Amino acid sequence: MKSEILKILRESGEFVSGQELCERFGVSRTAVWKAINQLKTEGYQIEAVSNRGYRLTESPDILTGEAIESFLKTEWAGRKLYCLDTIDSTNNYAKKLAEEGAPHGTLVLAEKQEAGKGRRGRGWSTPKGTAIAMTLLLRPDIRPEKASMLTLVMGLAAARACRELLNLDVQIKWPNDLVIGGKKICGILTEMSAEMLGIHYLVIGIGINVNMTEFPEEIRSVATSLRLEAGKTIDRAELIAKCMEQFETCYESFIRTGDLVELQEAYQALLVNRNQKVCVLEPGHEYTGTALGINEMGELLVETEEGIRAVYAGEVSVRGVYGYV
Ligand code: BTN
Repeated sequence: MKSEILKILRESGEFVSGQELCERFGVSRTAVWKAINQLKTEGYQIEAVSNRGYRLTESPDILTGEAIESFLKTEWAGRKLYCLDTIDSTNNYAKKLAEEGAPHGTLVLAEKQEAGKGRRGRGWSTPKGTAIAMTLLLRPDIRPEKASMLTLVMGLAAARACRELLNLDVQIKWPNDLVIGGKKICGILTEMSAEMLGIHYLVIGIGINVNMTEFPEEIRSVATSLRLEAGKTIDRAELIAKCMEQFETCYESFIRTGDLVELQEAYQALLVNRNQKVCVLEPGHEYTGTALGINEMGELLVETEEGIRAVYAGEVSVRGVYGYV
């Protein structure tokens, strides 16, 4: 009931009478009053005026189930939520839940990660209270070789969510880093448990630099945060809910067609590498060329002296010839 009261107050923006809330949930005035008080102790500022009711005036930036659910518009993505304080890695936690039978769409969030994992064996830092570190558990009925496309689907969904909420020029660095002005704001790491013909489950972990105001010297030139770019603090719960909403829509298109054919154009429009000189780093092999865009399988098409190559988004990394992008 708490998250629904929050949702009603948020969506109304005005006073909502205690009577209306009682009738809506079929509970007593005291029960409503108690729920409002609990919200207040969590940091929500709620004005209470007799004869008018309750009005939400400020929300804290906290990652609780209520906060996220009060923004959530999805059918399944993020509907089963685990909001943790400190964990080694949300990907590890989601894999453990998957082994125990957690359903498709389960979302794991943490305020802080102590051993966050990045791509290619690197680490990922999640300082407490300012970032988003979350992992979505999926059980798609697709062949394992198609799984890497889902990372691109999440990249597109998160880019759209940031653009829609914050009106920022967020772009995608293939396959799935999000950048603003050439600096990284988000990374994605997908891990999978599969056999030859099918996937048991996969987990897509997303790290977003949201409200950080500074970065360590060594990454300052290549990393930024949404807050630094937008010039204001961002409500992480709202952004998480928006990412889930966008992901659900993009995922359903992917499952319908079995590829990225319906999403290719939208992805392409945000692709920062497009028409750029890139260096492709494959295990044990490195070459340069011009990135042309992606095909419907999500492979990056790179024009080299020997012709056009389709680069598969596995353990490959692509960087700009003159820098990170
Ligand atoms: C990268 O760009 O190298 C990928 C970074 C992925 C980080 C996220 S944060 C949430 C999830 N849990 C992890 O341990 N890693 C991913």
